[in-house]
Amino acid sequence: MARDLKNFLDKLESIKNSLSEEINKITTSSELDQIRIKFLGRKGELAKVMKGLPHLPKEYKPEAGKVANKIKNVITNLIEQKQLELEEQGAKRGQIDITLPGREQFIGSLHPITITIQEICSVFKSLGFEIVTGPEIETDFYNFEALNIPKDHPARDMQDTLYISENILLRTHTSPLQVRTMLKTTPPVAAIAPGKVYRRDSDLTHSPMFHQIEGFLVDKDVNMGDLRGTLTYFVQHIFSSDTKVRFRPSFFPFTEPSAEVDISCVICNGSGFVNGSPCRVCKQTGWVEILGCGLIDPEVFKAVSYDPEKYSGFAFGLGVERVAMLKYGINDLRIFFENDIRFLNQFTDFPV
Ligand code: DAH
Repeated sequence: MARDLKNFLDKLESIKNSLSEEINKITTSSELDQIRIKFLGRKGELAKVMKGLPHLPKEYKPEAGKVANKIKNVITNLIEQKQLELEEQGAKRGQIDITLPGREQFIGSLHPITITIQEICSVFKSLGFEIVTGPEIETDFYNFEALNIPKDHPARDMQDTLYISENILLRTHTSPLQVRTMLKTTPPVAAIAPGKVYRRDSDLTHSPMFHQIEGFLVDKDVNMGDLRGTLTYFVQHIFSSDTKVRFRPSFFPFTEPSAEVDISCVICNGSGFVNGSPCRVCKQTGWVEILGCGLIDPEVFKAVSYDPEKYSGFAFGLGVERVAMLKYGINDLRIFFENDIRFLNQFTDFPV
């Protein structure tokens, strides 16, 4: 029995000896690679001997295992040492330029649209809004009907909406999340809903898929002042604390009254000029539009069984690409979707 152990240990010893012999003869690192495979590889010399370990009598296994590990370490060290030796020799002969800079590690970063969504969400989160999401494939009810958009409304035009069937479509806005959330909750409720939306539109300033963030709040006695205060807070946190906000009357079927919100142009600071030339972003007006909003129409409350006599609320919807373009001074929408690494690399302050 003891002979089995001796036999096993002898084999290990002889592997070590033949490695020491062979390693002395080699002169290149590809030869060293071959040696590494021959001795340490999955089907190498050491692995072959190790196959015998399970067949040893139980009492010899700990000793055999210990020696095998030791030999493996010795072999690994010898190979590593040789590797260093070869590199040093190569450097002396000028084959390896040790003055070359190390290889750079490339770290991915968040996409500017993702960064913008996260920043906007965190501003509203700090105000107590919860974040909700919903399906991109919607029904006519959530996307239109419950939002007081009747069958003959121009927003339903085949030009704009990507229909899957008569009743199923790709959502054209994030407003369906108002309906989905309100149906599940009783007031007070304050939520924002970021997500992708789709329209049959594609040119310099329109993409068939883009991102919106919907926001809404329902409680007792909510008024336009609350909306204005909330949006001003948001705008001044996303842009700068002196950004001005202006409301212009507008129309949306799901809000009454409705408004479009402009902010003082963040490119020219509202002056209309950049270095003496007319500002191209605000076309010299000093203002840029950033979102639509209003007080939630009683018809929407009826669709979700909220009592319009008891509750009121505000809602708003903004385009994420638009905010990102203003924030980062980008003038071409398409650059967000081309994934040109030279563009994306500029956002490495925001690692994944
Ligand atoms: N859903 C609108 C759109 O896509 C944006 C919008 C406007 C959302 C006014 C709102 C709102 O919640 O109150 O054009």
